[in-house]
Amino acid sequence: MESAENEGPKRDLAVVILAAGLGTRMRSRTAKVLHHVCGRPMISWVSAAAGAVAPQRLLVVLAPDLAAAAVHQVMPQNAEAVLQEQQLGTGDAVGTAAAALPEFEGDLLVINGDTPLITGDAIDDLLDAHRQSMPACTMLTVRTGDPSGYGRVCRDADGRVVRVAEERDANQAEKKICEINAGVYVFDAVALWPALEQVQSGNSQGEFYLTDVVEILSAGRQVVMAHETDDPDLVLGVNSRQDLAVAEKAMRRRILDRHMAAGVTVRDPACTYVEADVTIGRDTVLEPMTVLAGSTQIGEDCVIGPAARIVDSEIDDGVTLVASNVAGARIDAGCSVGPYAYIRPGTRLMQSAKAGAFVEIKNSVVGEAAKVPHLSYIGDAEIGSRTNVGAGNITANYDGVSKFRTVIGDDVHTGADTVFVAPVTIGDGAMTGAGSVITGDVPADALGIARANQKNIEGYARKKFAREEKD
Ligand code: UD1
Ligand code: CA
Repeated sequence: MESAENEGPKRDLAVVILAAGLGTRMRSRTAKVLHHVCGRPMISWVSAAAGAVAPQRLLVVLAPDLAAAAVHQVMPQNAEAVLQEQQLGTGDAVGTAAAALPEFEGDLLVINGDTPLITGDAIDDLLDAHRQSMPACTMLTVRTGDPSGYGRVCRDADGRVVRVAEERDANQAEKKICEINAGVYVFDAVALWPALEQVQSGNSQGEFYLTDVVEILSAGRQVVMAHETDDPDLVLGVNSRQDLAVAEKAMRRRILDRHMAAGVTVRDPACTYVEADVTIGRDTVLEPMTVLAGSTQIGEDCVIGPAARIVDSEIDDGVTLVASNVAGARIDAGCSVGPYAYIRPGTRLMQSAKAGAFVEIKNSVVGEAAKVPHLSYIGDAEIGSRTNVGAGNITANYDGVSKFRTVIGDDVHTGADTVFVAPVTIGDGAMTGAGSVITGDVPADALGIARANQKNIEGYARKKFAREEKD
């Protein structure tokens, strides 16, 4: 029978995220852990997962270069940066963190910063497993069909973990082992610190490997346990751009599964791209080739796509949006956008408005049930309710120095090919003649027309082409 006494005292927990590595295989000017997976830096995924076990301390090991500040910025507020002066290996990195944890005697969770698919649940399970039997170390492992690139978990005849053989240092037999080290460990700090001091750098890379601690501990008759997960995706370590693409694909599917479980139809998950922070309402349908990014929020009962790209925008219920690009905009309920519309920052389409084919709208308000159906550029403008903008209208908002506003009232009908030379105001219920260049205000209910009068020259065409008049 379990009793409260058997649970033991609650132990302190510190997390150390390793993020100082050079990331050479990425061939990038950006620190590896800052590369994005589905819209979030890798390190943010890792720190969010680690946050699930509510550590007392959260340390992140960083290289003392420009990236350090950038990485620290995307970490949670309570994260403490520890600088590893030289990138001498993962063992050295944890050693750096040790200096920031003097006299710490609890559990130390160490996570590689390049494992973005790790989850809070997986970390929680690992910690539970560790605390049940309190070995010197519990490491997360997985058996995989393709162990290449990872450290192999070597066990003795009795199945006890005795060593981790890094890919580059492994012999032929070890290379065949398919159980790999995920790079996520819980250590009893009291056992770890002295073992860490014994780590040497006599290996193929001349580095201090954290994984050597496993052999040091087990040689010293301390217990190292492997906690196996059955999901190889969970522990994917991103070392190259190829790995990054694999991580992105797995994370993308995870995000889409979450939305589908919540009542969103995703017609083809293989070609639908939704970033981590996007929200989508029930019964919305995502058609193929849809990209939803940043802080985008989509309401219920929308049909988005095919071929939509929406970034940092708010889309209300019942919107249809086909083959269009939307950024930094707000689109109210019942609006229709596209095909081939470009809706730019600062734009608001009020309820049931329409932005149709080959229409670009920037920093403008389009009123309720107003329509901009074809081939127009609307910039820095206000368009009233129920107004219909004719085909091919342009707001000439920029004189090469400053930008000016065009204000078009309610219930206005603008003729095809009207140019509004801003600043200009069109009153409620007014009209403009097709082909007009409107440079002055048009009063309410008036017709503004600004074009040359038509004149017909009789017989001109016949003469030009010397056509015979038929009798
Ligand atoms: C490491 C493990 C390997 C494991 C794999 C899982 C070691 C020696 N090997 O290999 O057994 O299967 O992860 O993904 O630990 N880092 C520092 N400072 C350094 C070096 C690295 O902070 O001096 C950081 C990196 O930024 C990275 C993490 O430690 O986030 C792991 O380093 P990496 O070089 O990617 O190790 P792997 O070769 O992938
Ligand atoms: Ca790695």
